[in-house]
Amino acid sequence: MCFLVHIIKGNQNGINNKGVNLMIDNNFKSIHEQAKKWVYEAGEFIRDSLDKPMLIETKSNANDLVTEIDKSTEEFFVNKIRDFYPSHKIIGEEGFGDREANLSGTVWIIDPIDGTMNFVHQKRNFAISVGIYHDGVGMIGLIYDVISDVLYEARKGAGAFKNGSPLERFSGERKLKESILGINGYWATENRRVEHESVQKLIKAVRGTRSYGSAALEFAYLAEGVMDGYVTMKLAPWDIAAGIVIIEEVGGITSRADGSAISLEGNNSIVSSHPSIHKEITKEYIQLKDNPSI
Ligand code: IPD
Ligand code: CA
Ligand code: CA
Repeated sequence: MCFLVHIIKGNQNGINNKGVNLMIDNNFKSIHEQAKKWVYEAGEFIRDSLDKPMLIETKSNANDLVTEIDKSTEEFFVNKIRDFYPSHKIIGEEGFGDREANLSGTVWIIDPIDGTMNFVHQKRNFAISVGIYHDGVGMIGLIYDVISDVLYEARKGAGAFKNGSPLERFSGERKLKESILGINGYWATENRRVEHESVQKLIKAVRGTRSYGSAALEFAYLAEGVMDGYVTMKLAPWDIAAGIVIIEEVGGITSRADGSAISLEGNNSIVSSHPSIHKEITKEYIQLKDNPSI
């Protein structure tokens, strides 16, 4: 919060909007650098843990896995953030963050391991995902593929990068029939969220589909341009917070599956894609069932 107070004081002392924007930029630039250091540190900790026996538990259902590594990684971030940035809020999947956090002020939205099933079964294809928002606006996104040692990152207005090299912004036209779509085959089977025939129609319309088992990595591959869209039905804020910022910086569009705006205060269905196929997917293909808001 002290950061906001500084800005207000700055205005009163005659610093113009340009000066204020520069202060905000510099502030998030330094938060970005700090967050990046912690992400690399956490990645090293996760890599070191891979050969040791791990405790695996289930959460909401038998396929919803969590390990002590998920928990200690989130705890690591929470301790660092509370030490360095006591006024920032934290929303974390494993519950070490704030019990009741809204999106006002600076909020870290953390998934310590996105793709825990892959982490447990495959020991690859999982990522650390950290999104940092200010008053609900995505400022920083970090997605770290721990095993490949590849960091996807973006800061609002500063572009997106893969291991330090700029990612190209989406340009030109993309046709659905020439697109690769990230989608889990589950949504093409009967389920309670989406008309599965509408998903089957979409799968037939595209060139090919992929499913990586980590929402964060699906966003990262989309940003990189190796996929053209990502469609899924129920993701939590920590699955999407970093990805949204990175996709925005390459000129992609992310919405709920009916085309409406995402809310980071709950779960969302997701269509994230190259702009030229977004409307076609949301309006001409995906048909949600009785609760179209998620
Ligand atoms: C899961 C992964 C998966 C997505 C699930 C998420 P987790 O996250 O992102 O790809 O389909 O909905 O819950 O549980 O491994 O952090
Ligand atoms: Ca996740
Ligand atoms: Ca997770």
